[in-house]
Amino acid sequence: MKQVGEFWWRQGVFYQIYPRSFQDSNDDGVGDIRGVIDRLPYLQALGIDAIWLSPIFPSPMADFGYDIADYTGIDPLFGNMADFEALVAAAHESGLKLILDLVPNHTSDQHPWFIESRSSRDNPKRNWYIWHEPSADGGPPNNWLSEFGGSAWEYDAATRQYYYHAFLAKQPDLNWRNPEVHQAIHDVMRFWLGKGVDGFRVDVIWHLIKDANFRDNPPNPDFREGLPPSEKLLPLHTADQAEVHDAIAGMRHVVDEFPSRVLIGEIYLPPERLASYYGRDLGGAHLPFNFALLSAPWNARALEKIIHDYEAVLPTGAWPNWVLGNHDRPRVASRVGMEQARIAAMLLLTLRGTPTLYYGDEIGMHQVAIAPDQVRDPFEKNVPGIGVGRDGCRTPMQWDATRYAGFSRSTPWLPLPDDFRRENVVNLEADARSILNLYKALINLRRKLPQLTDGVYVPIAAQGDLLLYRRQSNDSSALIALNLGDEPVSIASEAAGLSGEILLSTFLDRQGEKVRGALDLRGNEGVIIGTAGAQVG
Ligand code: NOJ
Repeated sequence: MKQVGEFWWRQGVFYQIYPRSFQDSNDDGVGDIRGVIDRLPYLQALGIDAIWLSPIFPSPMADFGYDIADYTGIDPLFGNMADFEALVAAAHESGLKLILDLVPNHTSDQHPWFIESRSSRDNPKRNWYIWHEPSADGGPPNNWLSEFGGSAWEYDAATRQYYYHAFLAKQPDLNWRNPEVHQAIHDVMRFWLGKGVDGFRVDVIWHLIKDANFRDNPPNPDFREGLPPSEKLLPLHTADQAEVHDAIAGMRHVVDEFPSRVLIGEIYLPPERLASYYGRDLGGAHLPFNFALLSAPWNARALEKIIHDYEAVLPTGAWPNWVLGNHDRPRVASRVGMEQARIAAMLLLTLRGTPTLYYGDEIGMHQVAIAPDQVRDPFEKNVPGIGVGRDGCRTPMQWDATRYAGFSRSTPWLPLPDDFRRENVVNLEADARSILNLYKALINLRRKLPQLTDGVYVPIAAQGDLLLYRRQSNDSSALIALNLGDEPVSIASEAAGLSGEILLSTFLDRQGEKVRGALDLRGNEGVIIGTAGAQVG
């Protein structure tokens, strides 16, 4: 049964779709909205509750849709407004929520607002972007760096000033110190909320405000070769500024004008900073994305510490969340290996907080090797050779063993891996013990066991390769035992409350086995044990 009500996003499982790569319905090699509609039955069977769609708006695609030229349109590559409205209706009919990507930090340089803004110094939209005089020597106003390499300042010869861009020069930053910008973005939000979308994932929300005095960023003492050049400096004055919380509170007000909507923020910060994005009196983001697992050292002690540090800083009443993959980071199956990808799945679906899955992780898609002449990602093009490229985690969904994996009938925009004929949805659905069926079982169990959604997190042990914890609600509890290594592990302890019944093993083969004071885990095995009082069904 689907979770309904105001707080559906607490119980729900989120699933990110990178629309270019999910399903192509018109055979141009790029995924589209009709393609997503065609695949709703798959998502329904998987058991997820909400789809987050990466940007589908008109864009020159310099950063594949994160450079928006019209906030309230649909790029023809993805379809049209009627297609989008059909998607909202079909998703809702299927019991699925639909979340859009909101990219308020920057627009495309082709957005009419920027075209106006750059047209003259006294244009009414001049102050919608961040313009600055050159420094005394005519160079950039300060040392701020673009995330995608080089200075964050671009010179505009016509008006003889620089504009700021945290990402590409084709992505000028909006000026969030200007109330007109707030109003304009709020109107965009109301436009989509009025069409029935269930909320937003807000792109780089912690970047919105920059230092009013344009102070230089200090050097990063931990910088070393091999890191992206932007990390030479600490973003002290370009991100996570105190005033950003007012901007977020404003967005939250808009979301709250509509019933049961959710505001999610993209934020890469350590837990104690991340926690502030719930906002004063929890009036900020409902879910500031918690990306700690994306860079977690894959061992029991490190994971337990990550969970502890996150749980420890959550404000009272704040709802946690966990993310295992996204379109900017290497695939989980490549980070931790195929065997441990199953452990990662069990971890994600048994931690306290809303889980977000990235399309394809449920079939174990790995990072795809991209030949130099196939590189599409502007980050890799600007900063080649150190492994920042994001194409490898954005490749087409592998649906079946046909020529283009059932994704398209013409050459996809990014290549498919050699193993897609084996590793695809059709094959994995037929294999009772596949990772896909593990994901389905995990999502299903999470829905059935209230302690997995509502229960508190109780750490028990992180020893050697074993990570052991409990999810406990008033009258029911579940014990989760994860073997982070490939050697068997034996646990014998009454103290750990090790008795009950195995509800699920990552190998999908021990269901119903009784546990009495001792448990043997195979290498790379995780189990969920329903302990006394646990209700299933
Ligand atoms: C964060 C997005 O996730 C990423 O894909 C994009 O390149 C940057 N924001 C810039 O918009």
